[in-house]
Amino acid sequence: MKLLEVDNLTIAFEEGRERQIVVEHAGFSMEKGEILGVVGESGSGKSMVAHCLMGLYKKNEKVIDGRILFDGQSLLAMPREERRRIQGNTMSIVFQEPMTSLNPVKKVGFQVEESLSIHRKELGKQEKKELALQALRDVELPGAEEIYESYPHELSGGMRQRVMIASAIVCRPKLLIADEATTALDVTIQAQIIRLLKKLNASTGMSVLFISHNLRVIQEICSRAIVMWQGKVVEQGTVEEIFRHPKEDYTRRLIAAIPTRKKRRNP
Ligand SMILES: Nc1ncnc2c1ncn2[C@@H]1O[C@H](COP(=O)(O)OP(=O)(O)OP(=O)(O)O)[C@@H](O)[C@H]1O
Ligand SMILES: [Mg+2]
Repeated sequence: MKLLEVDNLTIAFEEGRERQIVVEHAGFSMEKGEILGVVGESGSGKSMVAHCLMGLYKKNEKVIDGRILFDGQSLLAMPREERRRIQGNTMSIVFQEPMTSLNPVKKVGFQVEESLSIHRKELGKQEKKELALQALRDVELPGAEEIYESYPHELSGGMRQRVMIASAIVCRPKLLIADEATTALDVTIQAQIIRLLKKLNASTGMSVLFISHNLRVIQEICSRAIVMWQGKVVEQGTVEEIFRHPKEDYTRRLIAAIPTRKKRRNP
């Protein structure tokens, strides 16, 4: 069963009469329960696609064409109000920088509960707290009660990213978009977060759209991926196929650019 179908998506920035196409005729789909990788160099349009799925539009940004079906609903055709009911609820996103996404003056618990306050208005204070604590436990933060009462600056970078994931999953979304969610972390913490996302995917069936410019990281987390280049989806298939038989020159260069251990030790 398909969870997401993107067809012919074309997005542009408009500045006066100038129009710059940043995503062009992009198409891909995701199965329910799948982790799909999105890989491509900086500026290839990965985040534009992610933001468009979430309905987070920048100034001057315009969807020129295309269709997005999410769980059977046409996102681009629905009224804004209805779309807002999906954001942070059945679909949510985690970004690269947990420090800039978290509010430094609000306690972690308050921030994890935020989506519940928007989307589950019927819940009482204690019920919200319990769900937030459960989400903090789900992301394997030790001492959920203590973390709930702490401020972001009291936590390490890896812990903050876990808090961001807890905030994103507290409403139990069908799709989690991770946009370079492990890029700012060191390699060990990155591996832990990848393990966590895989575990959440396996235990809850939540689909994950995992965006990274790093093909090696993509290879670790998913079995299927799409490759973006200059706003286009130039390749899609299993990661194994992409590695073994890259169809595009660009993908070959991306594979060749993966640092080997030797290169890493002797830069
Ligand atoms: N506010 C903006 N105004 C004009 N162009 C923009 C704006 N934001 C992004 N772009 C352009 O859109 C294109 C796609 O950018 P996008 O952020 O989606 O790339 P990306 O693949 O996510 O890159 P990265 O790996 O660096 O995150 C780029 O060419 C970028 O210059
Ligand atoms: Mg990006």
